[in-house]
Amino acid sequence: MSKSEPKKTLKLSDPDTGDSWDLSVLQGSTGPDVIDIRKLYAQTGYFTYDPGFTSTASCDSEVTYIDGDEGILLHRGYSIEDLAEHCDFMEVCYLLLRGELPNAQEKETFKTTITYHTMVHEQMSNFYRGFRRDAHPMAVMVGVVGALSAFYHDSTDINDPEQRMIASHRLIAKMPTIAAMAYKYSVGQPFMYPRNDLGYAENFMHMTFGVPCEEYKCSPAVARAMDRIFILHADHEQNASTSTVRIAGSSGANPFACIAAGISSLWGPAHGGANEAVLNMLNQIGDKKNIPEFLERAKDKDDPFRLMGFGHRVYKNYDPRAKVLKKSCDEVLKELNVSDPLLELAQELEQIALSDDYFVERKLFPNVDFYSGIILKAIGFPTSMFTVLFALARTVGWVAQWNEMITDPNQKIGRPRQLYTGNTKRDFVPINQR
Ligand code: CMC
Repeated sequence: MSKSEPKKTLKLSDPDTGDSWDLSVLQGSTGPDVIDIRKLYAQTGYFTYDPGFTSTASCDSEVTYIDGDEGILLHRGYSIEDLAEHCDFMEVCYLLLRGELPNAQEKETFKTTITYHTMVHEQMSNFYRGFRRDAHPMAVMVGVVGALSAFYHDSTDINDPEQRMIASHRLIAKMPTIAAMAYKYSVGQPFMYPRNDLGYAENFMHMTFGVPCEEYKCSPAVARAMDRIFILHADHEQNASTSTVRIAGSSGANPFACIAAGISSLWGPAHGGANEAVLNMLNQIGDKKNIPEFLERAKDKDDPFRLMGFGHRVYKNYDPRAKVLKKSCDEVLKELNVSDPLLELAQELEQIALSDDYFVERKLFPNVDFYSGIILKAIGFPTSMFTVLFALARTVGWVAQWNEMITDPNQKIGRPRQLYTGNTKRDFVPINQR
C-alpha cells in the first residue's frame, strides 16, 4: 500500500458538541502507522500538542529506519552491523545519497568525484585566521561551513538537481579538510593539503596529524577504525540536527547554510556533543570507587548531572551502534597497545548502571557516544574534536535527507504552531505610568 493511500480511518469525536471527524491512517513499509492530521486544524479548529516531537512523524523518508524497541538500525534497508562489517564509508555515502549500494565501477567513479572535491578555496584559510587559537573547533565549523555558500555560488541553486548533487559531493569531500584545518589552527601547525592517493579516512588522518616535514603513516587498523566510526555516525533518521537541516532547507536556504545549521544543532551535549561530554564525565568520575556517587547524582532530579552517553529518545534497548563501537574499542586499544584506565572505568560504569533499577526501569542503555570518545582519545584526538568528527560523518546523512526533502512533492516550509499561554490583549501603559 502506498503511503498516500489511507489504510483505515480513526474517529475523533467531541463529546460536548457531538461532532466527529475521520482521520486517515497511513502505512509505511515498516514501523508504526501514522495518523494523518494535515487537515486537522482546517476541519476541527484544533492543533495537536507535541513538544519535542515524541509522537510526531515530521516527514516521510526512505533513507533510514530505526526500531528503538528492538535496537535495529537500517540504512536503505541494510543493517548497520552489515554495513559496518562489509562496507567502507564511501559505499555507505553512495548508498545514503543514491539509495542503492554501488557496484565496483560506480564506487570507483564516486570515490574519484569525492576525491577531486577535497580542496577548499585557498582564500578560506583566511577565515581561520580570524578565530582565536583557543576557539572551540565546533565554533569554527559552524562559521566556515556556513561560509562555503560565499565561495561556491555555482552549487547553491536548490532547484537544479545537478547543482544539488555537486553541493552534496562538495560537502562530503570538504568536511574532512575543514575539520582537519580547525584542528591544525588550534595547535598552531600549518594546514595540510589533501592527498588524492589516500582513502577518505586516511586522507583525513594525514591532514590532521601529518606535517609538511615528514610523511605521516596511518596504520591500516586506525584507518579502518576511523572509517567504521564514520559509518556508524552517517545517518540516524529525523534526529535534532537532521530535522534542523530539513527545517532550514524547507525555506529554500542553500545547502551550505542548512548544513551549518545542522552542525549548530549537533553541538549540544544532549546530541552530538555527548561524545565530548562522556570523556569529560569519565575524567570527572576519575576512579571506580566514585561511580556510586555519580550514579546517585544522575538520579537526583535537583542535580543537572546526567550520565552522558546513556539514554536515547528512540532506543529503548542497546544502541546497535554502541555494540559495534564497543567491539572496535577493544580492537583499537589492543592494536595501538594502549591500556586506558578510562575504558575500564567506562565498562564498570556500564555494568553498574545496567543493573541499577533507575536505569533499568527507564530503559537507559549506552548510546553511540559512550564508546566513541575512548577510541578517538586512543587515536590521539583532543576531546574538543570529538563532535567535529561526528559532524564530518553525519554530513552525508544531512545531505541525503535534505535532497529527499527538496524532491518531496509534499514538502512545505516547516512552520509549527503553538499553545499560547501568554497575556491576552491588554491596554498599552505609557512609560511614566509603569
Ligand atoms: N542520565 C540520567 N537520567 C536520564 C538520562 C541520563 N543520561 N537520560 C534520561 N534520563 C531519565 C530522565 O531524567 C527521565 O526520567 P523521569 O522519567 O524520571 O523524568 C527519563 O530518563 C526519560 O528521559 P527524557 O529526558 O524524557 O528522555 P529524552 O528522550 O527526552 O532524552 C536524551 C533523550 C538522549 C536527550 C537523554 O537520554 C540524555 O540526555 N542522555 C545523555 C546525553 C546523551 O548521551 N546524548 C546522546 C544521544 S545518542 C547520539 C545522538 O543522537 O546524538
